[in-house]
Order: sequence, then structure tokens, then C-alpha cells
Amino acid sequence: MSTGEILVTGGTGFIGSHCCVSLMKQGYRVVVVDNLSNSDAGVIDRIASITGSRPAFYIADVRNADEMDRVLRRHDISAAIHFAGLKAVGESVAVPLRYFDNNVGGTIALCQVLNTHGIKRLIFSSSATVYGAPDRVPVAEDAPLRPASPYGHSKAMVEQILADLSHADPEWRIGILRYFNPAGAHESGLIGESPRGTPNNLVPFLAQVAAGQRDALNIFGNDYPTPDGTGIRDYIHVMDLAEGHCAALEALLQGQPGFTVNLGSGRGHSVLDVVRAFEAACGHAIPCHHAPRRAGDVAEYYADPSRAMTLLGWESRRDLESICRDAWHSQCRQSNGASQR
Ligand code: NAD
Ligand code: UD1
Repeated sequence: MSTGEILVTGGTGFIGSHCCVSLMKQGYRVVVVDNLSNSDAGVIDRIASITGSRPAFYIADVRNADEMDRVLRRHDISAAIHFAGLKAVGESVAVPLRYFDNNVGGTIALCQVLNTHGIKRLIFSSSATVYGAPDRVPVAEDAPLRPASPYGHSKAMVEQILADLSHADPEWRIGILRYFNPAGAHESGLIGESPRGTPNNLVPFLAQVAAGQRDALNIFGNDYPTPDGTGIRDYIHVMDLAEGHCAALEALLQGQPGFTVNLGSGRGHSVLDVVRAFEAACGHAIPCHHAPRRAGDVAEYYADPSRAMTLLGWESRRDLESICRDAWHSQCRQSNGASQR
């Protein structure tokens, strides 16, 4: 499938770039908008290398109505996938206004300009962070929302705004996707995660330690009430996530009403599980130290992904080994200067 152009905001970022690849492989024409605040324009070349064709690309900020209007006038967009936003939890605590401006203000501005152009199909990148510390695992979509950071609040606020928008105007069909822990890279290694500065997340940090760019992994806490004492998360391969977006888009374009779904694997892995899998992928031991728990971390969460299967016919297919293998491949290509920034 399919016809129509798809607007992808944040399309040169980590998840957006992989989603562009999946969309283009499925025959969609893609229009990327990104302000390059956390990515590089060279990603477009690498998407073109993988897919054999180039998405349209505009350097623009979703908060700039004039720029967005100009883009939408030039294309026949049938739906938008909105990845553009800021995502660092710690930074959001330090500069909350920047997060509300970009994540909440950016989404409002985007919806306004889409509305003006009569484009009322939208997929939004939310996060399992909206659940905060869950009462039970696996976490289903009807679990209480208790975001614990300005970043998490910004996602929960946008979810509310989008619910109110589709309530006010039923022509809007909006898919809210709550991602668990995206990791890995496209199997080519040409695109992947390339965080600026020190990585906050486990897999990119491990990749840099394995590549010798950092001395050791600090394991944040080994006294959690989990089998090996380290935190348990639901790591989902970024290509599975990308395919989940295609399934969500397909559902919206075929007339399905709006939905909120978890995108996770439904499996929990401890920090030590991930370290072992990464060691197997890179072929050598990775130095680790035990460190105190990280503020704000919870012991364990993983998704109940059953609604995604019921509504979208989607489930994750790739395992932790694939995540680590592809993250390592991408890291090696980056180290050789072949990828990312
Ligand atoms: P990313 O930083 O790699 O990609 C986001 C992209 O958006 C970047 O290319 C950045 O330059 C762009 N951008 C930011 N603000 C913009 C603006 N105002 N206008 C235009 N472009 C802008 O992040 P990612 O990991 O690909 O995350 C994508 C989305 O998914 C984000 O909304 C994030 O909050 C959400 N999410 C990510 C994770 C994760 O672990 N990576 C988990 C849950 C949810
Ligand atoms: C973090 C974010 C969350 C976001 C998610 C996915 C916080 C508090 N939460 O969650 O909002 O949705 O990423 O992007 O930042 N770990 C180490 N050493 C490290 C890094 C991580 O031991 O150097 C551990 C953590 O304690 C955790 C696990 O690895 O147990 C995963 O950490 P991380 O990748 O940061 O993801 P989350 O904590 O789930």
C-alpha cells in the first residue's frame, strides 16, 4: 500500500528516520519537517540509500505557522505523524518551559495548521512515561496516568489536548502511541540512535562503552525487588516501532476511529540481561560498576501490548538480541564515520 503523502515531523530524528524507511518501503510518499535541533540533515541521504528514493525535506520548526503553511501548500498530505519534540527527562526538570513550549506549544501549532488545511489524521508520539510508577505490570492503557517530570507532563497534556480536539470535531482521527523503551537501529546500520553528549538511555550508553568511547557502564541500583536486583524495562526494536506506526496509519486511513495504544514487546529485561546480550553482540566483556539508584527510576515496567494486536494487528517481532546486534552495528558504522553526525 499506499497513496497520499505523509507528513513526518521530527523525521530526521531517531524514531522518525526509521519510520520514514518503513513508510517508504510500504509505498508512501513522505514529507519530512525537522528543525535539526537534535539531528542532522545527512540522515535524509541515508534514508535515500536504504530506500532508493528521497523523502521531501524541509528544515522548519513546527511552531512556525508560516513555514508549516508553506510546506502544506506544496504537498497533498493525507496524514501527519508527529515525532518532533524534546525528550530528555532530566533536562525537562531543569528547563520546563522549553519542554512545554516545544512539546505542547509545538503540537497545538501543528494541529492548527493541519486544521486550516483540512488534514485531520494524526499520529502522536507519546511515552510510557505518562504512567509514572505503575501499580502493576504488565501496564495496560487504562492504567492511571501519573507522569513524574515536566517531560512526562508535556506528553500527558498533549494526550488530553488531542482527546478534547477529537471530541470537539469528530472528523479528527488521532492515534496516540505510547512507546516503551525504543532501542536498536536499522539493520543496515546507516541510521540509528546518535545522542548528543552523554547518552541518558541504557542501550546507547552501553554501545559507547563497548566501542571504548566511555570507560564503564554505571548500573543504577542492584537492590530493586527484581530477580537480579536491577531495573526491568520493555525494550522495543526501533524497526518494530516504525512498523507499528505504519499499522496505526493504515488503521486511521481506513477510517478507524482514534485510539491510544501501547507499543512495547510485552517482555521485561533487566539491566544485566541487556549487558549480557550486548556483550554477545559485540563479542567482548563490557566494564560495569554498581552505582546508586537513579532518581525517579522505577523497579519494573513492561507493556501489555494486546490492544495494539487487537486494534492494529501489530506486535513486535524482534528480540533483545536483534536490538543489541543492530545497535552495535550502527555504533560501529558511526565510529567509522559512515553514519549519523
Ligand atoms: P529525537 O530527538 O531523535 O527526534 C526528534 C526530532 O524532532 C529531532 O530530529 C529534532 O531535531 C526534531 N525537533 C524537535 N523539536 C522540533 C520542532 N519544534 N520543530 C521541528 N523539529 C523538531 O527523538 P526520538 O527518540 O526520535 O523521539 C521522537 C518522539 O518520540 C519524541 O516526541 C519523543 O518524546 C517520543 N518518545 C521517544 C522515546 C525514546 O526513548 N526515544 C520514548 C517515548 C517517546
Ligand atoms: C527513560 C525515561 C523515560 C523514557 C525512557 C525511554 C527517565 C527517568 N525516564 O526511562 O521517560 O520514556 O527512558 O526513552 O529518564 N540504566 C543504567 N545505567 C545507565 C542508564 C540506564 O543502569 O547508564 C538503567 C536504568 O536505571 C533503567 C534501565 O537501565 O533501569 C533503562 O534506563 P533508560 O534507558 O534510561 O530508560 P528508562 O529508565 O525506562
